[in-house]
Amino acid sequence: MDLQLKNKVALVTGASTGIGFSICQELADNGVHLIMVARTKKTLTDAANQLSEQYGIKTLAIAGDVTDINFPTQVVSQAKHVFESIDLLVNNAGKAHAGNLFSASEEDWESMTATKLSAMRRFCCAVIPEMQKQGWGRIVNISSIGGLYPNPQLTVSHVLSAAINNLTRSLALDIAPSGILVNAIGVGAVTTENWANNMLPNVRARRPEIAGKSDEEIMAILGKEKTPVGRFGKPEDIAAIAAFLLSNRNQFVTGQTIEASGGADRFM
Ligand SMILES: NC(=O)c1ccc[n+]([C@@H]2O[C@H](COP(=O)([O-])OP(=O)(O)OC[C@H]3O[C@@H](n4cnc5c(N)ncnc54)[C@H](OP(=O)(O)O)[C@@H]3O)[C@@H](O)[C@H]2O)c1
Repeated sequence: MDLQLKNKVALVTGASTGIGFSICQELADNGVHLIMVARTKKTLTDAANQLSEQYGIKTLAIAGDVTDINFPTQVVSQAKHVFESIDLLVNNAGKAHAGNLFSASEEDWESMTATKLSAMRRFCCAVIPEMQKQGWGRIVNISSIGGLYPNPQLTVSHVLSAAINNLTRSLALDIAPSGILVNAIGVGAVTTENWANNMLPNVRARRPEIAGKSDEEIMAILGKEKTPVGRFGKPEDIAAIAAFLLSNRNQFVTGQTIEASGGADRFM
């Protein structure tokens, strides 16, 4: 299927690794030029260079922290020097916080909210006027399956995912008449550094019988135990869904949270 995305321009936050990088790769493979955002400059620049060399697309790497209040408008203004439009927005930057409500400190709560939710609001506010000028746009917000099926082992992450799903639907209904479609992806467990760094310590503490196994072995065990399809997701699984939702072939899906979890509602 031709996604009809050639020469569109996408702004992707959290673009340097994991799910965000995989979405960039899928978009680049469809001829999309990329504005890539993450904090660590070297990793981000290397990722952007790799994609422009491999796919012959233009990339603009802008290093910064999405929690900085002024950053989204700065990104849009820098991008406008290079590209004539911003057609697609992917709000992906973030990480998980493992633990229940009481294990999250004041700082955990504030920094998770700033990274996942407040940044999403500001990037939407900065980019949507650009989309409205041309009467076309697509937005994908990366949420988690816990926004639909909360797990007390991930309370903060899942509260924010529910808020993302709600924001996605409100915004979608509001701006549908402008030709802009907005959807979320309720991501299940996907093997990324984020999962390994933030979840595995919690799993090892709660499951002493498998604690001594390697990261890969534990993720394979949990994938079999908890997931109807028998495995954790790969970043490419999410990228394929995002690419369709962001494409011109998507003309009729908006305000939805697409469950992308191999049929599972929890992983730990
Ligand atoms: N992996 C899963 O199982 C899973 C499940 C549900 C939801 N998700 C969500 O999927 C998204 C991507 O996660 P991932 O697993 O792919 O993680 P990842 O591999 O750790 O990638 C996270 C990306 O976000 C960037 N980032 C993090 N904090 C940032 C900040 N404050 N400002 C700018 N960039 C920032 C990181 O680069 P820098 O660190 O250099 O900034 C990196 O590019 C997250 O929102 C996560 O909550 C993941």
